[in-house]
Amino acid sequence: FLPISETSEDGGQLAKDQLGNPIPAGQLLALAPGSRALVAGLEGEPTYLTVTEDGSLDRMGIVDNCTHLGCTFPWNPTDQQFQCPCHGSLYDSRGQVVRGPAPLPLKLTRVEVKEGAIWLYPWTELDPRTGQRPWWS
Ligand code: FES
Repeated sequence: FLPISETSEDGGQLAKDQLGNPIPAGQLLALAPGSRALVAGLEGEPTYLTVTEDGSLDRMGIVDNCTHLGCTFPWNPTDQQFQCPCHGSLYDSRGQVVRGPAPLPLKLTRVEVKEGAIWLYPWTELDPRTGQRPWWS
């Protein structure tokens, strides 16, 4: 018996549920396209994963941590926004600020599905939403 390693040599960590158990990719891929699931991500950061229209997992995981003062917040599927309850910041479906006071887009995590597991990595490449270097690295 070999336990599944929860970190990889290249800096990846398995996405986990609220009990700390790794989430099989199939569990999220069974959701309807456009669905989002909140998982425990890198260093336990709450992170939203998205099922894309083609039924795969979006490679952009969105960290659920307001860039104003760090509140966490729900995804609102009706408005298609992340809505921070603390001071009213709004973010679009990709984590871009729609309304402040949040000063920056939500942090990203890179998502990869390998052998049925969901691996998360620090996002170090250009931020595809801004074309700039990520503000968090
Ligand atoms: Fe989110 Fe202030 S912490 S708007």
